[in-house]
Amino acid sequence: MNPNVQNPTPVLQAHALRKRYPKAKGWLEALKGVSLQLFRGEILTLLGPNGAGKTTLVKILAGLVEPDGGRVEVLQEGKRTWMGAVLEGNRNLYWRLTALENLIYFGTLRGLIPKEARRRGLELLETVGLAEKAQQTVGTLSRGQQQRAALAAALVHDPPILFLDEPTLGVDLEAQEAIRTWLLRLKEQGKAVLLTTHQMDFAEAVADRVAILQEGEVVLEGRTQEVLEGSPGAPYRIELQAPLGEGDPRLAQLRAFEAEVEGKVVRVVGEETLWEVLRILDPLPLERVERESLSLAGLFWRILGERSERCSSLPT
Ligand SMILES: Nc1ncnc2c1ncn2[C@@H]1O[C@H](COP(=O)(O)OP(=O)(O)O)[C@@H](O)[C@H]1O
Ligand SMILES: [Mg+2]
Repeated sequence: MNPNVQNPTPVLQAHALRKRYPKAKGWLEALKGVSLQLFRGEILTLLGPNGAGKTTLVKILAGLVEPDGGRVEVLQEGKRTWMGAVLEGNRNLYWRLTALENLIYFGTLRGLIPKEARRRGLELLETVGLAEKAQQTVGTLSRGQQQRAALAAALVHDPPILFLDEPTLGVDLEAQEAIRTWLLRLKEQGKAVLLTTHQMDFAEAVADRVAILQEGEVVLEGRTQEVLEGSPGAPYRIELQAPLGEGDPRLAQLRAFEAEVEGKVVRVVGEETLWEVLRILDPLPLERVERESLSLAGLFWRILGERSERCSSLPT
């Protein structure tokens, strides 16, 4: 589904963002003109290798770093403080304060009266499964618990937009699962969530849309389902009614087209190859032929691989 049909106006729009950092000789172009939109009730996931510019982008969107070019437009109305952000690393909370004290502190900092901040704080700690840790200093919590507390702190003032930079980095599976469930709930509440992650399975489970960032540029962006199904690398799956026999001469012919044969199933990539393979299989009875969708990890590595091939074949 097109987000523009479902949610006519974005809550946030970034136009041609540029950022460069000084390095020993000249400049490092961390962002080379990145544009994106974020909609209500969706999770947009930014993927990209280390150094692609994800954290820089999140910091600019959250208003923590000034871009060298372009602008960020926040279109959400009716709130004084729009955003919540959890940035990389563990530095989003005061380690010597308890979990609840942190939430009260950040709540009042962002405009809540202390009583309301306390109420919201307790409610959020309950939601993230940390109710029993409310009075414990953050420094004594596990990494996963700290991350959940940081998420609660980012949400204490109920912002409509949430940025999460690598929220599952270094957390255990239980905390990952808690974060995943919680993100889906936030989305249902109509929040706009932008997150970065290295974990493809996590991204695939939560992302309505994905954007792949490489060397400061968005190289692919779209609705998760559509990019996976529409990808030219997605294989066709041919299911036969009976498996091919061991000594079947067709096996060698199929392998020549790089078809993968597994019992009754033959997989091929590319439409032309599909027709060649169907000709080889003719007249065996078929059960079905379908397009498989690629996994996000498969798509990601294919895109990065293709791009680096193209770049390395450019004259220097
Ligand atoms: N404060 C900074 N000073 C200089 N270079 C930086 C700074 N922050 C990031 N960079 C560089 O900018 C590029 C993008 O970094 P970053 O946004 O952290 O990428 P990612 O989060 O995708 O790993 C990297 O090459 C990184 O080394
Ligand atoms: Mg980063």
